[in-house]
Amino acid sequence: MTSQTNSADEDRSPAEDRIPVVALDPHGKDHHGEAARLRELGPVVKVLLPGDVMAWSVTDHALLNEMITDPRFSKDWRNWNAIIREEISDGWPLIGMVKVTNMVTSDGQEHRRLRKLVTQTFTPRRVQALRPRIQQIVDELLDELPSHADTDGSVDLRRHFAHPVPMQVICELFGVPADERPRLQELMDNIFRSDLTPEEVTASQIEQYQLLARVVEGRRRDPGDDLTSALIAARAADPDSLSEEELVGTLLLMLSAGQETTLSLITNAVRALLTHPGQREIAVRGDADVWSDVVEETLRWDAPIGNFPFRYPLEDVEIAGVRIPKGEAIMAPFSAVGRDVRQHGEDADRFDITREQRRHLAFSNGPHFCLGAPLARLEAALALPSVFERYPGLSLAVDPDELIAVPSLFSNSSSTLPVRLGT
Ligand code: HEM
Repeated sequence: MTSQTNSADEDRSPAEDRIPVVALDPHGKDHHGEAARLRELGPVVKVLLPGDVMAWSVTDHALLNEMITDPRFSKDWRNWNAIIREEISDGWPLIGMVKVTNMVTSDGQEHRRLRKLVTQTFTPRRVQALRPRIQQIVDELLDELPSHADTDGSVDLRRHFAHPVPMQVICELFGVPADERPRLQELMDNIFRSDLTPEEVTASQIEQYQLLARVVEGRRRDPGDDLTSALIAARAADPDSLSEEELVGTLLLMLSAGQETTLSLITNAVRALLTHPGQREIAVRGDADVWSDVVEETLRWDAPIGNFPFRYPLEDVEIAGVRIPKGEAIMAPFSAVGRDVRQHGEDADRFDITREQRRHLAFSNGPHFCLGAPLARLEAALALPSVFERYPGLSLAVDPDELIAVPSLFSNSSSTLPVRLGT
């Protein structure tokens, strides 16, 4: 993999050379500082990724919304010039988010086929039916929190609550056996990291596929009322509907998308309320609906996916007067657009659960709109009131500035959330 100094550069106009370039921090130390810088530089900027790989970023809410709903932008990595030219190696740290075979990286008819197989079984009714089980998981984890206290009395709420809630829900939903879950968790975390060595990336990818292939084999031998068994049954009924590779790829997508993001949403919402006492007061005194405002405001203000790869124009396009050549990579910077003043008003930087909610893009939009949004919203809407109800004296155990970010330019959250339960 190399930088994009190649023949396409020879076609660039002098105006294109003036487009600012921002190197994104692979450790994600300051998502919002970086996002603010991107916005200030203009609606369309260039970003430099690990390994000196260049991409574009559209930092204006309205323009990004137009782009992600425009069929001239492919999601298929086979349309990325840098991959066609073999400039991206399989050990590139971000490869696990880019070169995968599933619905996120497919277009048109292919995308509809892969998405439909999941939506047929992962219905709104099925999600709502999970409500009592999710509440039970939440309550059990809250009961156990005091037993996880460190010697100084603090508990890492991310590790012992925000993490296991979505993990347990998604593993049960897909019939992942309990003994595979701890390793699966580590492998899923690796997908979002942007600081691994090429060897670690490759080893992790191989192991992910092996582990999920084992899960598929297990469910094939012993089917249950889970979504993996449903996907296997769909493939058995019509082998053309889903290849074996797509089956494992879909499972990988659902398990990774289904937990890292929701874990960050719960972590970010608790962190926001603990650092905004006035907002917390409104939330805990409010009715049940107020928690939906907490969830939506957190998604906007502190998007769990700060940046998401990539769309590739199928022809040369112009966005805000900037020409983006066919086949270049364009990032969706959800952290940046979540605080775009043109969309969210002059106080877009403020966390305010009472604001008149305008549409945010944290779940994307268009044909690839997050398929798990109803589940993520349900999990957060059950987890958040429960934690504040059970531990009304909950407080941060460290200075907010000491919280260390998840080492990722995609995931936007802190890697721990030490709290005092106040019991
Ligand atoms: C707060 C939690 C979540 C956030 C912020 C989130 C965000 C996103 C985003 C930004 C995309 C966009 C893709 C794009 O336009 O390229 C996406 C797609 C997707 N998400 Fe989520 N997600 C969350 C939870 C979940 C959950 C719980 C699941 C599954 C159980 C899930 C499954 C998916 C799938 C399958 C797609 C691909 C849809 C497609 O390409 O058609 N997500 N999500």
